[in-house]
Amino acid sequence: MKPISVHDFIVISLCLFSQFVRGLEDCRSGMYPPKGPTFKGNVTWYTVNLDLPPSERWTQVIKDKNTELITMVQTIKDLAKGFLDGKLVDLVDEELPLIVDTLPQPFRDEIKGIAAVSGIPLGEITLFNIFYEVFTVCTSIVAEDFNGNIYHARNLDFGLFMGWDRQNKTWTLTEKLKPLVVNVNFQRGNKTIFKSTNFAGYVGILTGIRPGEFSLTMNERFNFDGGYVGILEWILGWRDGMWMGFLTRKVLENATSYEDAKDQLSLTKLLAPAYFILGGNRSGQGCVITRTRINTLDIWELDMKLGRWYVLETNYDHWDEPMIFDDRRTPAMKCMNRTTQANISLASIYDVLSTKPVLNKLTTYTSLMEVSAGSLESYIRDCPNPCTPW
Ligand SMILES: *[C@@H]1O[C@H](CO)[C@@H](O)[C@H](O)[C@H]1NC(C)=O
Ligand SMILES: *[C@@H]1O[C@H](CO)[C@@H](O)[C@H](O)[C@H]1NC(C)=O
Ligand SMILES: *[C@@H]1O[C@H](CO)[C@@H](O)[C@H](O)[C@H]1NC(C)=O
Ligand SMILES: *[C@@H]1O[C@H](CO)[C@@H](O)[C@H](O)[C@H]1NC(C)=O
Ligand SMILES: *[C@@H]1O[C@H](CO)[C@@H](O)[C@H](O)[C@H]1NC(C)=O
Ligand SMILES: *[C@@H]1O[C@H](CO)[C@@H](O)[C@H](O)[C@H]1NC(C)=O
Ligand SMILES: *[C@@H]1O[C@H](CO)[C@@H](O)[C@H](O)[C@H]1NC(C)=O
Repeated sequence: MKPISVHDFIVISLCLFSQFVRGLEDCRSGMYPPKGPTFKGNVTWYTVNLDLPPSERWTQVIKDKNTELITMVQTIKDLAKGFLDGKLVDLVDEELPLIVDTLPQPFRDEIKGIAAVSGIPLGEITLFNIFYEVFTVCTSIVAEDFNGNIYHARNLDFGLFMGWDRQNKTWTLTEKLKPLVVNVNFQRGNKTIFKSTNFAGYVGILTGIRPGEFSLTMNERFNFDGGYVGILEWILGWRDGMWMGFLTRKVLENATSYEDAKDQLSLTKLLAPAYFILGGNRSGQGCVITRTRINTLDIWELDMKLGRWYVLETNYDHWDEPMIFDDRRTPAMKCMNRTTQANISLASIYDVLSTKPVLNKLTTYTSLMEVSAGSLESYIRDCPNPCTPW
């Protein structure tokens, strides 16, 4: 547990500090189509063929992104060297390759395939896969317009609150991650089953869409008792519960409707708490599912009769106040309210997601999805100074 308490300590000190440097800005407008200093580039599309054996599915992606992947893994290792006198790194190289055999298929063979193609030790690729389950903070929004169209968008903010680059005023890990962002078209029988925005080397899913059926994003739910316990238990051999990013992948791959997806996301036992944000293909289909490891605390749905034309989730339970030092919810809601349902669209949601501190130094990408159109667009983001660290 030692690394976790150090991590928590750093997070808390930085958070206290940030209260003094935080700046808010007025709601942005006219940011879409993406351009200018907050837009760093488009995301390249790849095809992953689900008819291939799992170990061969990611070959093209890894071949293209190998240099960046090696750099990222090295950066994580350098940061991990600070823990337990460097023993954490030894532990990863010795123990995690054994853990990979306990992961369910097809994830086990996909991870092994990625390690083989990249030449990166299996334990380190496994660590990389666990990493995203634990260190993402995000903003997700599902909104409905007057015509019953459902829009689903998210900012993915990634970082460890470690490795602040004082020269460039950026988070080292966040910057190293940006070149690894890829769009993936998952196909069976040459037909698209679902699409996602992924990190090369990661086999789970944080952002995805099943065209015509549903869209899905996952946000981390910090929970001081229970957040890491399940992952620790897994490593120690008590393997009851599912990795969150594997469940989202399974749902996108095999669920057949909004309702089916909602059931699977609410009923499957997990390794750690999470928020699942789901959008559908018709009026009223949009919800935030608040999960503990074992059960579902709440499903918060769109409801036009109650005037609830959007649901918005950051990393705090919607019925509680967000933490004062990390309140992205109030500014995002302020901008949604100001936009009004009459003018809601992917473009105006992109504006909301471009407003600081919803956009911040941890923001890696912004994704925009519309289920009926089957569309997924993602953009790499930058937050030039002055900008809040998160
Ligand atoms: C991103 O893609 C759009 C649409 O395809 C294109 O117009 C634009 O030039 C691209 N921008 C960059 C920076 O590649
Ligand atoms: C700052 O960014 C530049 C250009 O991307 C890079 O060459 C340099 O290494 C970065 N500084 C640090 C301290 O990482
Ligand atoms: C997919 O398309 C390729 C080339 O167009 C073809 O060779 C292959 O047989 C197709 N596969 C399936 C499963 O339809
Ligand atoms: C989806 O279902 C197919 C067929 O049952 C199975 O082979 C595959 O592993 C499932 N996908 C996931 C991610 O569990
Ligand atoms: C919405 O999804 C359901 C379940 O997958 C499907 O039966 C229906 O045809 C879809 N409706 C539209 C308008 O695409
Ligand atoms: C936005 O509108 C909702 C619904 O009217 C209201 O509950 C909420 O307090 C508003 N939030 C902000 C920040 O304006
Ligand atoms: C509607 O949204 C667009 C796109 O964000 C924005 O440019 C425009 O000013 C908005 N119109 C009104 C009336 O708010």
